[in-house]
Amino acid sequence: MRIGILGLGRIGAFHAETLSGLDAVESLVVSDPFADAAKSAAERFGAEVADSPEALLAAGVDGVVVAAATDAHPGLILACVEAGVPVFCEKPVARTIGEGVEVLKAVGGRDVPVQIGFNRRFDAGFVAARAAVRSGELGKLHTVRSTTLDPAPPPAAYVAASGGIFRDCSVHDFDIIRWVTGREVTEVYAAGGNRGADYIREAGDADTTGAVLTLDDGTLAVVSNSRHNGRGHDVRMELHGFADSIAVGLEEKLPLRSVEPGTTFPAGTPHDFFMDRFTDAYRAELTAFTEVVAGSRPSPCTIAEALEAGWIAEACTLSLHEHRPVTVEEVRQA
Ligand SMILES: NC(=O)c1ccc[n+]([C@@H]2O[C@H](COP(=O)([O-])OP(=O)(O)OC[C@H]3O[C@@H](n4cnc5c(N)ncnc54)[C@H](O)[C@@H]3O)[C@@H](O)[C@H]2O)c1
Repeated sequence: MRIGILGLGRIGAFHAETLSGLDAVESLVVSDPFADAAKSAAERFGAEVADSPEALLAAGVDGVVVAAATDAHPGLILACVEAGVPVFCEKPVARTIGEGVEVLKAVGGRDVPVQIGFNRRFDAGFVAARAAVRSGELGKLHTVRSTTLDPAPPPAAYVAASGGIFRDCSVHDFDIIRWVTGREVTEVYAAGGNRGADYIREAGDADTTGAVLTLDDGTLAVVSNSRHNGRGHDVRMELHGFADSIAVGLEEKLPLRSVEPGTTFPAGTPHDFFMDRFTDAYRAELTAFTEVVAGSRPSPCTIAEALEAGWIAEACTLSLHEHRPVTVEEVRQA
């Protein structure tokens, strides 16, 4: 099949490399307003370059991967759906939940599949955690801890287009908490601050946040995020139940250093970014998209499903700004 890629920045170039290695993908067409980004991907992966999203859609693509900046997602998703072309779009659906809901309304009822890129759903550790929760082997859950710490902040332009740390980064934690536990979040209480890059504060965003989420069965989920984690890219989840406790990401490349005498774990080179932490998950996710394009499976993460994490991000953003607990129902009603 022939796949188009819109946006060839950090993740778009990485997806181009992954797609070029999939058996199902015969050719790639790429487009980015930053011409050098498209040209470099074309040279590396033997892709054709299109001058615009319209030209890419006219180039006979079977499916499109949208990896453009977040503020471009709604327009690009709609352009693909209107052209009748299945689309994979990186998270989040849009910069704000209002825009996300508009996208959902606009594509609703159209028979064109859309897959949103919550890659953790394709990671072996998170898949195993979900199975453990569903099997009942942990007993009743009481606490979930979900951590995403980036080694260094993204550039100012990225932050400005991102919608803020809860919608951009923590949204991965929110989605995977729902997916692993099978529960919905009812209430959040968030805090955050800025002690790093000035441009994050100037954009009205926080560089480090914490949030306590209450799930609909009473389980507490504690979410921790930062743009500044010198030791590496740290993505983990702990699930504690009345009968047993498990951890995702507790492996040799975990970017943590034990100070316990005689303890050598973890001994590997710490993960330095999302590309190396989730290489296999991205491959599985894009393989799933080729199956969606081929019509052999439905979208594994629809816009409606992705927006559920968006509502939690919205509640956390309000909670941070107003220093108070916020129910998800309150932001849905607003
Ligand atoms: N799932 C994940 O793990 C993951 C990881 C990183 C980024 N992302 C998401 O991917 C998106 C891109 O992130 P990034 O880190 O690659 O950003 P980036 O800033 O490195 O790259 C974005 C690229 O999009 C291009 N672009 C902007 N508007 C465009 C348009 N209308 N058409 C085509 N290209 C356009 C820019 O020129 C730039 O090259 C963001 O929405 C982000 O949330 C997801």
